[in-house]
Formats: sequence, C-alpha cells, structure tokens
Amino acid sequence: MDLKLKNKIALVTGSTKGLGYAAALGLAKEGCKVAINARDEKTVKSVAEKLSKETNTQVIGISGDVSLPDVPAKLIEQTVNAFGGLDILITNTGGSAHGSIDVLDEEQWQKGIDLYLMSHVRLIKSALPYLRKSDSASVLTINSIAAKQPIPSLLLSNSIRAGSLGLIKSLALDHGKDGIRFNSILPGWTSTERVEELLSARAKANNSTLEEEAKKQANESVFGRLATPEEFANAAVFLVSPAASYVTGVMLTVDGGSYKATI
Ligand SMILES: NC(=O)c1ccc[n+]([C@@H]2O[C@H](COP(=O)([O-])OP(=O)(O)OC[C@H]3O[C@@H](n4cnc5c(N)ncnc54)[C@H](OP(=O)(O)O)[C@@H]3O)[C@@H](O)[C@H]2O)c1
Repeated sequence: MDLKLKNKIALVTGSTKGLGYAAALGLAKEGCKVAINARDEKTVKSVAEKLSKETNTQVIGISGDVSLPDVPAKLIEQTVNAFGGLDILITNTGGSAHGSIDVLDEEQWQKGIDLYLMSHVRLIKSALPYLRKSDSASVLTINSIAAKQPIPSLLLSNSIRAGSLGLIKSLALDHGKDGIRFNSILPGWTSTERVEELLSARAKANNSTLEEEAKKQANESVFGRLATPEEFANAAVFLVSPAASYVTGVMLTVDGGSYKATI
C-alpha cells in the first residue's frame, strides 16, 4: 500500500529515542521531511544527522522541553521555517514522577499536567494555522494504555492522560470540517529505555530482578512478550498518513491484547 507520505512535512516531539524516535524513523523511511525534538541540544542534532543519513531524507533537530509554556510554539515555528509548512504533528513526551497520592506533591501534579496535557494543547494550538493550509493534515498524540487501565505507581499518568483523550476526541469532532484528523495511540508495554527504568524500579521494590519483572509484564500481553518500538511505529505511521484519510477520533491500543475489557 502506498501511504502517500513522500515529501510530507512532520514534527515529532520527544523523539531522540524510544517510541518517538521509532515514529520519526518510520516517517523518514516513507520520504517525509521530519523535525525531531528532545531536551538535549547535542543529542537532538546528532540523532537528526544520523536519521537523515540513514534514510536519505531531510531531518532537522530542534531542542526544547515541551512541558514549558513557550517551547511548543517555537518548535512549530522552527519546523515551518525550515520546511515551509506542516502536514503531520506527532506529540510525544517523556514520563513523569512515580508514586502514590501520599508521595506526590502539588508541584509534581502541576508538572504532570504540563507534560501529559498542556504540551499537547500548546503544540496543537500553535500548529493549527499551518495544518489548516495542508491538504492532508493529521495530528497523533502518543498517550498510554494507562488512560484506560491504570498502571500501578503511575498515578499522574493514569489520571491526566484520560483528560488528554477527551481533548483529542473533541478536536477530531471540531476540526473535521477543516480537513484535520486527530487520533491517539495508547501503547502498552514496549521495549524502550523508559520501560527498562520502570521495571528496574519495580525489581528494586519487589526484591526481584529486571528479567523477572519483564517476564511478569510480558505475560500481561496475549503474545507473552513486550512490543517492539517498530510495532508501535507501524501503527503510528499509518494513522498519520493520507492512507488513513477516513480515520479520526480513534484511540488505538497497540498493547498486544493486554487491555482486557470489551470496550
Ligand atoms: N514505552 C512504553 O511501554 C510506553 C507505554 C505507554 C506509554 N508510554 C509513554 O510514551 C512516551 C514515550 O515513552 P518512551 O518509552 O519512548 O520514553 P523514552 O525512551 O524515555 O523516550 C522519551 C523521548 O522523549 C524525550 N523527552 C523526554 N521528556 C521530554 C520533554 N519534556 N520535552 C521534549 N522531549 C522530551 C527524550 O529525550 P530527552 O530526555 O533528551 O529530552 C526521549 O527522546 C512517554 O510519555 C511514556 O510514558 C510509553
């Protein structure tokens, strides 16, 4: 199937490693011009250079923390200045603090809201004027299975990400008339550095090993294993592509069947 992504212009935030990187790589392989982002300037530039060489396409790196109020607008502006427009926006972030309600303080809650909700709001708001000019505009937020099925010790994610799904469904309904599609992916457990850190923390708390915790988590999936970042990216690349032109307002779980409810 031709995904019709050649020469489309994309910004993927939080994308020097993990899920964001896999999505950026997938888009670059399809011939998109891609802007990647993360907080560390040196890493962003070197990953962009590597991606560009590997895929023989234009990739730029823009540093900035998406949870800060003035950064999202700058990322959009710099992408548009570099490539002359914007067709695809994939909003991704890192993870927040862990802990129970007794442990998390007001400041950590506010940071969680800035990361898991306001970064998406600000990026989308700044992108809208450019997306309205595109003939194949698409926004994808990288959410989490935690929005549907709480993950132990990730209270911030379990709480705030559900609000972010409400945002995407509302925008899909409001902006269909502008020809802009809005979807979310809810990844299950996928092998990335963040997951290794989470499982290491569990191993420490349970006096077990990383391997034991990984096995327990893998067994939650009907396939008995974690996802690869590429499996996540295949779904992401399809959803933002013109090949998915009639798909909007979708909250797609890519979780190996670990979410057990019917709806
Ligand atoms: N992997 C999973 O199984 C899974 C499942 C469900 C949901 N998720 C969610 O999906 C997202 C990505 O997860 P991941 O596993 O790919 O994480 P990861 O391996 O830690 O990668 C996160 C990427 O985002 C960048 N980043 C982190 N905080 C940022 C910020 N404030 N502003 C801009 N860039 C930032 C990181 O680079 P710098 O640190 O250099 O900025 C890195 O490039 C997270 O929100 C995570 O909670 C992951």
